[in-house]
Amino acid sequence: MNQDALLNWFNKNQRALAWRMNPSPWSILLSEILLQQTQMERGIEYHQRLFERFPTPSSMAESEVDEVLFLWQGAGYYSRARRLHALSQIVETDYEGVLPSTYDELLALPGIGPYTAAAVASIAFNHPVACVDGNVRRVMARQTNKENPSVKDVQVFADLNLVREHPGDWNQAMMELGALICRPRNPLCDVCPVHESCKGTLRANELPQPKKQKKKRVELRCVVKIDSHGRPELIQRPNSGLFAGLWGPQIEDDINTKGLEYLGSIRHVLSHRTMTVQVWKDTCKQGIDPNNVALSTLDRRILTLAGVFLDVPSE
Ligand code: ADE
Repeated sequence: MNQDALLNWFNKNQRALAWRMNPSPWSILLSEILLQQTQMERGIEYHQRLFERFPTPSSMAESEVDEVLFLWQGAGYYSRARRLHALSQIVETDYEGVLPSTYDELLALPGIGPYTAAAVASIAFNHPVACVDGNVRRVMARQTNKENPSVKDVQVFADLNLVREHPGDWNQAMMELGALICRPRNPLCDVCPVHESCKGTLRANELPQPKKQKKKRVELRCVVKIDSHGRPELIQRPNSGLFAGLWGPQIEDDINTKGLEYLGSIRHVLSHRTMTVQVWKDTCKQGIDPNNVALSTLDRRILTLAGVFLDVPSE
């Protein structure tokens, strides 16, 4: 690969993201944790919201995990929020509030896997470690015309090509190329800065081959109990499992709904499962204000269907 060409392209064409324009290790770490499983547009929004409230690891360490979850509402993969909070507390106690800089120290923190450790070590601290994410895998598959490269293959490719003098820019250039030019569908090969070395141009759309993953189907039932002021009864979910620590009406696979008003069913698609939730309505003595607690997008949809008024309804 022509490394200079890619770095020049990145310098000219990179997106002006908040954590690039005004970088700090914490801001970069926050962005990488969000972007693991959240699309860029949404990642930008949540980054702004979280970074404004928690500009340093210490500010998060001093806060309750519920406040982090509250701000994380709608971003999905809520265990990330819980782990980030745990991370901030370790940074506070073990590192005097300053993020460690090496790959190994970062990897040992909660919620930080090999990708995030490499991204933060290289982008925030200029340590020469190569990042491998879905973008890099796609660029590699096309450059080498390999349908199904293994994790090891991609890592070898990334290590081999890493520009050790500019690891942060290089890693970001590879990912930015994957996001803007070497896109999953309809890649812009005509304007690709590294098309000369690309062996997969003629069948770029078919590279790499998608992994077939079958989503588990889950059928659930939910009874939304509402008091005379229109406020629902909500429980806080346990600290492990789906939507851990978030609030919502009781959802189970088997609830007695005899005699209750049926409201309809909601199909909710997550990365690994498709949920169908049938919803009924009941009354209760005293509910709570749903706008003061963290709700998942699924719970927002259920409450909206039950006529509960939410400050931020789900889309
Ligand atoms: N996706 C995740 N992290 C990224 C980064 N630093 N640059 C571009 N795309 C990304």
